[in-house]
Amino acid sequence: TGNLKIDKDGVLEISGVKSTHLANEYGTPLLVLDEIKIRENIKRIKNVFDSADYTNYEIAYASKAFLNTELCRILQSENVSLEVVSGGELYIAFHSSFPVNKIFFNGNSKTNEELVMALENDAGHIIVDNEDEFRNIEKISKRLRKKTKIYFRVIPNISPDTHKYISTGQKNSKFGMPFDDMLKLIKSIKNSENLEIKGIHAHIGSQINEAEPYVELVKTFFDLLNKIRGETGVVLPEIDIGGGFGVAHSTFEKAIDIQNAIKRVIQEVRFLSSKFHYPSPKLIVEPGRYIISNAGTTLYTVGTIKKTENKKYIVVDGGMADNIRPALYGAKYEAFIANRSKDKTNLEKVTIAGRACESGDILIEETCLPEIKSGDLLAIPSTGDYTYSMSSNYNGFLKPAIVLVNNGKHKLITRREIYDDLIKRNIENSEWR
Ligand code: LLP
Repeated sequence: TGNLKIDKDGVLEISGVKSTHLANEYGTPLLVLDEIKIRENIKRIKNVFDSADYTNYEIAYASKAFLNTELCRILQSENVSLEVVSGGELYIAFHSSFPVNKIFFNGNSKTNEELVMALENDAGHIIVDNEDEFRNIEKISKRLRKKTKIYFRVIPNISPDTHKYISTGQKNSKFGMPFDDMLKLIKSIKNSENLEIKGIHAHIGSQINEAEPYVELVKTFFDLLNKIRGETGVVLPEIDIGGGFGVAHSTFEKAIDIQNAIKRVIQEVRFLSSKFHYPSPKLIVEPGRYIISNAGTTLYTVGTIKKTENKKYIVVDGGMADNIRPALYGAKYEAFIANRSKDKTNLEKVTIAGRACESGDILIEETCLPEIKSGDLLAIPSTGDYTYSMSSNYNGFLKPAIVLVNNGKHKLITRREIYDDLIKRNIENSEWR
């Protein structure tokens, strides 16, 4: 990716900052986030809407991919909204003074506490997953004397066998509700004082790399909008097509052509609006990894190097505790030596392993690298998404530090955990009761 360069000494630079310098300053494993890349990714999405002249849209970044207070600040300055799925993500947003009217609260089983927290703080939109939740939101809104803006999450029934990577929108999904249930609920609240129905939402899955499923979703949405208008007279003004825009974590994966995908979505929305004489709806997208994936590079220091009969292991000072994606999904990454990238001699097949006590803790099953020495710095690009946010303290490993880089400058935005973090929630001398 364009922000990664090899300088004249063969050292990897990320947005103009030497990786070796970052490793010395902040230690490893280190997650390096490039602010320029984040903003570029956002701009690329905005540009599609702008060049199609579709001004009625909102980008709600899916926090689950990665969230901290500094990212909230960047998103806010880009006028990007936030999709959250828990009290924890809400807390980070509130703490960062993120504009509450730009928060979308999603989730298939929000707790009562979370809903109260969201509504008391006027979190902008609640995406309703099911009927019980709907009743509960109505009750809490009434008690707090609020008018809550809601969306319905529907199960779009988008055929999973034509697009096998679609895993959240199929018939028996644990997310959302069938169309008929939604219709019933809309009929029951046509004139509610405490709820304002803004639109419908669906998320068809993640790592989708073509436009068709999104276009199909728009068709489904318009069928639904029409049906709602026909049966209840309600004209819903917004549709939220979720996220899932695929990225390439390595050359083994193909990223979506986002220009084409969103352009096709907009075309379909325009076509169907005019066909059905339906007012052009506001279009909401919820990209997560598309915004953060290639902005992140993880730096590791090489520890043990070990030869077995058929393999050569390069063991780094991290692994599944800071990036569980290879172990959990078989995700494929690429690595290169960051401190002496010019060296292209003695290429050999190696396995990049983590140091957790699990045979499955392999970051890269097989790759070709010049001969590595213990102490070398290894970089794995495109690790901004679902790495830190899914990290754990397994084996007592400490969560990495996160540093933001921008055109030759760097700053620490999340400190590395310290051993004390591992015990400070433990209670010593606790009394039996
Ligand atoms: N909106 C909703 C309602 C979602 O459930 C998700 C992701 C997104 C947006 C954002 O999807 P993205 O644009 O980031 O693909 N841990 C997995 C990914 C799980 C995604 C779950 N939902 C991984 O590391 O591949």
